[in-house]
Amino acid sequence: MIGILCAMREELEPILKFMNVKEKINHANNIFYLAEFQNKDIVLAYSKIGKVNAALTATIMIEKFGVEMLLFSGVAGGVDEDLKIGDLIIATKTTQHDVDLTVFGYEPGFIPESRVFFECDEKLNTIARNVARKLGIRLKEGIIASGDQFVHSKERKEWIKKTFKASAIEMEGAAVGCVCWNENIPFFMLRSISDTAEEGAGVDFDEFLEESSRVSAKFLVEMLQEVKSD
Ligand code: ADE
Repeated sequence: MIGILCAMREELEPILKFMNVKEKINHANNIFYLAEFQNKDIVLAYSKIGKVNAALTATIMIEKFGVEMLLFSGVAGGVDEDLKIGDLIIATKTTQHDVDLTVFGYEPGFIPESRVFFECDEKLNTIARNVARKLGIRLKEGIIASGDQFVHSKERKEWIKKTFKASAIEMEGAAVGCVCWNENIPFFMLRSISDTAEEGAGVDFDEFLEESSRVSAKFLVEMLQEVKSD
């Protein structure tokens, strides 16, 4: 079983259009869509925004539905200068930019017995690179930083960039990365840029959420054709 997770309904809907949905299950204030796509069993859901919601949905997908890999699709704020609205990025690893135990001497993002960075699955990233090459699509890769804040300030964005070498910012990736690391499940994170996380980002986000969600969804579905599952 493959798990596909988004944060928002707008991010999930363009993926669902490609799926043969067999059943909908309501659980813990989430809707889980059990679907079939090219003979693969897939469970899909949107978690609602933020790290706590994403961690809940990811955990249910693994513990209740038995997914053996988790693929995330959605939008992000661009940090790297060459990332423009609508561009695609995959995460090499994710981190929580709003974790701060520095008063105890820990580096930003670090939690004892956990880690600063959660690695994404190299096999899934290789599939993404190959699909992008085949389709002639530019696919960036880099660190994606997550926090329970919609970043709309150049100052905060620059701090996240400097501290974590992040290429993009969103609000769920590291939560799913953390769950998958603890559960030993391969994790893939794809995002299309909706804004550049500076002043005015809220207006851009509202304008480009749907279009960028479609870009991410389309690429994920292309990629899914190459993903093998049991
Ligand atoms: N997702 C999309 N844009 C974002 C931003 N600027 N901050 C946090 N999450 C986002």
